[in-house]
Amino acid sequence: MTHESRDAIESLFQENRLFAPPQDFGRGSRMTPELYRALLAEAESDYEGFWARLARAELEWLTPFTRTLDASGAPHYRWFDDGTLNVSANCLDRHIAERGAKPAIIFEGEPGDVRVLTYRELLAEVSRFANALRAHGVKMGDRVIIYMPMVPEAVIAMQACARIGAIHSVVFGGFSSDSLKDRITDAQAVAVITADGGHRGGRVIGLKAICDKVLGDCPSVRTVFVLRRAGNEISWQEGRDVWWHDAVAGLSDSCPPVAVGAEHPLYLLYTSGSTGRPKGIQHSSAGYLLGTILTMRWVFDIREDDVYWCTADIGWVTGHSYVAYGPLACGATILMYEGAPMIPDPGRFWRLCERHGVTIFYTAPTAIRALKKHGDDYPRAYNLDKLRLLGSVGEPINPEAWMWFYRVIGQERCPIVDTWWQTETGVHMIAPIPGLTATKPGSCTRPLPGIAADVVDAAGEPVKAPDEGGFLVIKRPWPAMLRTIWGDAERYRETYWARFENRYYVSGDSARRDADGYFWVMGRVDDVLKVSGHRLGTMEIESVLGAHPQVAEAAVVGRPDDVTGEAICAFIVPRAALADSAARSVLGSDLRRWVADKIGPIARPAEIRFASNLPKTRSGKIMRRLLRAIARHETIDEDVSTLENPDIVRELKAPPE
Ligand code: WTA
Repeated sequence: MTHESRDAIESLFQENRLFAPPQDFGRGSRMTPELYRALLAEAESDYEGFWARLARAELEWLTPFTRTLDASGAPHYRWFDDGTLNVSANCLDRHIAERGAKPAIIFEGEPGDVRVLTYRELLAEVSRFANALRAHGVKMGDRVIIYMPMVPEAVIAMQACARIGAIHSVVFGGFSSDSLKDRITDAQAVAVITADGGHRGGRVIGLKAICDKVLGDCPSVRTVFVLRRAGNEISWQEGRDVWWHDAVAGLSDSCPPVAVGAEHPLYLLYTSGSTGRPKGIQHSSAGYLLGTILTMRWVFDIREDDVYWCTADIGWVTGHSYVAYGPLACGATILMYEGAPMIPDPGRFWRLCERHGVTIFYTAPTAIRALKKHGDDYPRAYNLDKLRLLGSVGEPINPEAWMWFYRVIGQERCPIVDTWWQTETGVHMIAPIPGLTATKPGSCTRPLPGIAADVVDAAGEPVKAPDEGGFLVIKRPWPAMLRTIWGDAERYRETYWARFENRYYVSGDSARRDADGYFWVMGRVDDVLKVSGHRLGTMEIESVLGAHPQVAEAAVVGRPDDVTGEAICAFIVPRAALADSAARSVLGSDLRRWVADKIGPIARPAEIRFASNLPKTRSGKIMRRLLRAIARHETIDEDVSTLENPDIVRELKAPPE
């Protein structure tokens, strides 16, 4: 038996293994069994009172709120909406008296350069840059695009926007110029904050050059702030472009935080859905920040002396809630790393953990699987004794990866928190409480206090039997939830609420709950893929492929992949028949490059198959189920004779190029 197949079978048998919380962990942990029970009971008996009490305890308000939940515009819920506060003041100013000299950010660049910013220094940098934004006319409510490498200035830029009430929208540095343009245009951003370049994978990614490709088509942008990071040559547009260091020169390092309403949008973050166009998920200020703080305490058990490392890029929601906001609001020390995990070798993450004394390590299953592939010697070469807690996010973690993470990285001492949540939920929703919840490899365990998660059937009724699959829904609004889709309230209602007549928030995931009440996320019910933990819509990729001059029709499906979770498989009908395999291979490479150019390298198909048509029903609908089976090399046992074109299946099954 091969190693792989033995692993797979093992996972089937071992799904019910239960790992009791390590005894040592509980000592000194923020959550005691009594507190946990009390929180659950309080949320149950007085839902609004529960959130109101926590919002008063955890946030520093400029004007206290008197209304907790306003459901009058449901499903556009409003929380704490007559209160005012400032998110940046809640993350920085509040710590200065007690923790001014404590490191807020420990940064390591891919080339190995290290920089430490204390809370006092971070506040000064944020204030100075906030003043620079203002000096360039950025006002409360303006949208600002952040397109940056993973350097401290990325967080400084986000916090500076929050300080003056500007709404940021971070675009992942791996997205292409077209994706950037779509986001700038949808948000009607007045400014872009970028860098000359960033170090990634041993190369310099020229971010400013990518911006330059499209800024000519973005008339709303008046100012482009450029951080000098990689020192690469860039072009310059006088009057529009300004160096970060010039913009802050001579400005004061004090900038009084403005009071914004609790519901003031803190940021927009674009994410893929089941239709072609990414949607701008809009988050609030107070409710969102409250959620990040509570989950930092409950799920990460954040303590004063922790060195906390979340490997997510600030381009994703994880980099917002668990890098730029939550940990700072809790006064924690965070590690930020600019580069790729394999540079210069697959030991980089573990070397970073050792060098900076990381105690909490939060990453994605795809990274765990990629590092596991390189064996145990890399992690064993480093001292990982300071680690006390491990976390996982982004996709279901398979039991083999979980076990490796647990044994080799956590040395059977660290609990693993498998956290289920989404860009839309803002913060963790279903996750273990380390030190309290016994874990099962592959399950995100139970909903957090105040989170009414359930699994319902097609009629919206809770599934009756344990392990019955259904729609994962949230039955009550929660403070950190998205508020709407920027500029498209109708799409917000349609996407998240319409399925069950506005009764529940519909996550788009399917799940089952076992006899112990543990949730097992099974996957998406819509056409959203998770490739290396990144969320991509199949329709988005299809519409890009369909726009290629040589493509008549395209269909995209996912297939399981050992490392990336899912891999993209594209079926292409070319406009003109391709003469031979050489012609197919030329067009194949061209299409891969095309997708990388239009969306970003993460969306590049792993496999492309050509055929003279796609399998369709008599009414012309593409049979995606069949395409998925073909992509997975499964035997097709369903009757294909009802297809419009049954012969096409044989053609599509031909080995890919
Ligand atoms: C998936 C990432 C299983 C899920 C924070 C969800 C997970 C989507 C988990 C959201 C997990 C995230 N177990 N599946 N622990 N975490 N997912 O918006 O399908 O990038 O709907 O947010 O990732 O992806 P997003």
